[in-house]
Amino acid sequence: TGVNTYFRDVRIGVIGGTGLYSLDGLDVVETVDVETPWGRPSGPITIAASPRGHRIAFLARHGPSHHVLPSEVNYRANIAALKALGAQVVLAFSAVGSLREEIRPGDFVLIDQIIDRTKGGRADSFFTGTGVTAHASFGEPVSAGLRALVARHAAAVPAIAVHGSGTSVCMEGPAFSTRAESNLYRAWGASVINMTNIPEAKLAREAELTYAVVCMATDYDAWREAAEPVTVAEVMKTMKVNAANAKALLLAVLPDLEQAAYADPAAALTAPEAGSMQYAFQ
Ligand code: ADE
Repeated sequence: TGVNTYFRDVRIGVIGGTGLYSLDGLDVVETVDVETPWGRPSGPITIAASPRGHRIAFLARHGPSHHVLPSEVNYRANIAALKALGAQVVLAFSAVGSLREEIRPGDFVLIDQIIDRTKGGRADSFFTGTGVTAHASFGEPVSAGLRALVARHAAAVPAIAVHGSGTSVCMEGPAFSTRAESNLYRAWGASVINMTNIPEAKLAREAELTYAVVCMATDYDAWREAAEPVTVAEVMKTMKVNAANAKALLLAVLPDLEQAAYADPAAALTAPEAGSMQYAFQ
């Protein structure tokens, strides 16, 4: 019928990455299993209420028990499900390797650029197979307004540095990079590396969501001559600390985010992304 039965006017979505599987400190009001035209998201979506009475949707990117590999995440269903609930702003979190000495494991990076090193096998457009020729602008792949909003709350995580910009490399995985690749990405000027920024950011743009991703450094990848290359054990160990910082940062950011999404929806925060799709030959 075309009626979206999932719509709840939940304007804020949060996507949790490795180590971030729930929203603590908020009251859960509903858990929704959403089915989209692109299939099911990685797991049920938890809808929580903030102390100010606004609703926030939470989705664990790799599923509630981390069983979905980066290459196997149904990114289209994840983004479409949040959009169906009513999301306008999506703040994502992602564990990353650091490619820079000054980005220490534990630090957060509000990346502003992405280099796509996935292998082309990920479904990365809502327009595939639809017959609609559409091209989203992606020169600025994340929202500058949302990055700035998050950066203003860096004081909520005083033990770590929150870097205000940076370039991420999104690789295919699941194996980590070779030392030569790690050095290549450093030579390209990249700051961090992960396995999920693409196509997540691209699809968020096609869905006209205001999207940013907090990259949480867990390791120094493989480039450091004196150190052992990254292992899963290292990533998981750092993520325990990172998850606590991520939750503290999110709770600090929420009042401003709610103001932007609920009280002032026409504000500069959402303006550049809403209306960013360009359709040709319709
Ligand atoms: N996620 C966390 N650490 C990573 C690394 N070194 N490479 C790719 N993805 C990562």
